[in-house]
Amino acid sequence: MTDGDIMRIRLFNKKDLDEAINLIITSYKKDKKIKWTKEITEKYLLMHYRMNKDLCFVATENQKIIGIGLCMLKPEYNKVIINSHILIVHPDHRRKKVATKLLSKIIVKAKNKYNVDEIESSVESLTTFPISWYESIGFREKKHYTLVKAKISDILKSI
Ligand SMILES: CC(C)(COP(=O)(O)OP(=O)(O)OC[C@H]1O[C@@H](n2cnc3c(N)ncnc32)[C@H](O)[C@@H]1OP(=O)(O)O)[C@@H](O)C(=O)NCCC(=O)NCCS
Repeated sequence: MTDGDIMRIRLFNKKDLDEAINLIITSYKKDKKIKWTKEITEKYLLMHYRMNKDLCFVATENQKIIGIGLCMLKPEYNKVIINSHILIVHPDHRRKKVATKLLSKIIVKAKNKYNVDEIESSVESLTTFPISWYESIGFREKKHYTLVKAKISDILKSI
């Protein structure tokens, strides 16, 4: 980023869809585990967008999208929490606090508008980063909780 390039954060809107899809595909290109096709990425983005339009943001520089921050809320006991979020920054624009600013925008708005006071996330733990980043900004591993997951078809075979 040069002095003339100002990074801005604004709400995501449907016109951003193609650019946002390309950003996700570019960012995850090296990941061999999951293939992010255009169709899958579009569905994934729209699912978040439809559920919480007002909490979906993009970071732009010279009107070009360089980062995306989306989240979903879920009820938990007597309140609402953020239980899923996506933060993706274009590889050419990383380590300039774009993700930090996107997350900040999301949580401040969620707090002010929905009284959200908690955010949880399942984070890949095979590598030090990004867990190290989450911990550096205040997230802590919930030692007494384990993420359990199953294919519905497997459960139906077992019960
Ligand atoms: C994770 C991601 C969103 C971070 O975006 P970013 O804009 O580069 O992050 P920030 O600049 O706000 O980083 C803040 C801090 O995170 C840590 N960090 C960021 N990238 C890092 C990396 N590759 N390795 C180690 N630490 C890193 C650093 O402590 C950094 O602060 P510093 O640059 O002052 O040392 C980006 O790497 C990305 O898009 N990754 C692919 C998608 C992903 O894994 N998303 C996270 C789960 S949803």
